[in-house]
Amino acid sequence: MSAAVRVLQGADLTSRNSFGIRAAARRLVDVHDIDALSEALAMFDGAAPLMLGGGSNVLFVGDADDVLTISDARRALVSDDGDRVVVRAAAGADWHGFVLWTLAQTLGGLENLALIPGTVGAAPIQNIGAYGVEVGERVVAVDAYDLQTRTAVRLDAAACRFGYRDSVFKQQPDRWIVTAVEFALHRFAEPRLDYAGLRDALAARGIASPRPLDVADAVIDIRRSKLPDPAVIGNAGSFFKNPVVPAAQAAALVAAHAGIPVFAVDPGLRKLSAAWLIDRCGWKGHREGDAGVAPGHALVLVNHGRAEGAELLALARRIAASVRLRFGVDLEPEPRIVGATW
Ligand code: EPU
Repeated sequence: MSAAVRVLQGADLTSRNSFGIRAAARRLVDVHDIDALSEALAMFDGAAPLMLGGGSNVLFVGDADDVLTISDARRALVSDDGDRVVVRAAAGADWHGFVLWTLAQTLGGLENLALIPGTVGAAPIQNIGAYGVEVGERVVAVDAYDLQTRTAVRLDAAACRFGYRDSVFKQQPDRWIVTAVEFALHRFAEPRLDYAGLRDALAARGIASPRPLDVADAVIDIRRSKLPDPAVIGNAGSFFKNPVVPAAQAAALVAAHAGIPVFAVDPGLRKLSAAWLIDRCGWKGHREGDAGVAPGHALVLVNHGRAEGAELLALARRIAASVRLRFGVDLEPEPRIVGATW
């Protein structure tokens, strides 16, 4: 076994999941140098290990068997035509640290995605998105290992099949191990200010033509004001996806419920605000033992201390049942649930 692969038997995962749920892995294999990945994979006898990045989008309802982590965090400039710059980072790089690094090179494109917890390797899996930008819009290619064909492959953005909090990697979780991601960024980019709260935050600072760094600062402030810090109180960000429903259903909901937020996505489809639906059912700030809903944001489930995954899952199910009863809308969880099915 090379020094690039580290094996831990009976690894504690409590500090490796942002919910802070007590869980363990029978065996945890960490790959420090991506070139040693196939050596690490040989240990699993063809079975797919649970891939764990920053642990910020997972709910442990039971212990895990084999867990694979990648701590290779190298990043590099790949090409530069004066404006368009392609940058690359290995899967283990911390996402926010990587965003700050691109901003330090005066590259625009990822500023709206500042302060999202997790790793670069996890970013394309659920196509992280915030404040008007989804990461898939910036991805040139994803390097991955295909456990089905046992080959290293490179998927261009189209092959990644990005959708709202969705990708080919999420659809086939036991097939792909993301090893590195390449992004196209720009020195001279128009900032994306579609999200109203972002425009307002910049206006409040008196910034008329913001640079990417200004946008990132505003995003960081908005996130800090709305979302609980996982370092302070365990959570995995939004616990539910915003439901996408047929336009006719959305129109009926608008007629029946004053003030319900509705966003156009594709023709014929509308996105609803899961936070609003949950809030109207009275869940914001609710607490049962140590499992609860954040007082500041109805979409975020929190672990006040020693909640178990099963308690959080039970609470999530009750929340979804109440939304279904009142609004006839199904909620779908955003994090990966280990040890149970939704
Ligand atoms: N709202 C409420 N009650 C609340 C919070 C929000 O009624 O407690 C309503 C408000 O009307 C608000 C609307 O919900 O205007 C939307 O809220 P927000 O702008 O906070 O966005 P979100 O739809 O709840 C999504 C993403 C977040 C992302 C923000 C900003 C999903 C599931 N969540 O949240 O992503 O940061 O937009 O773009 O799409 C994550 O995925 O973990 C995440 C935090």
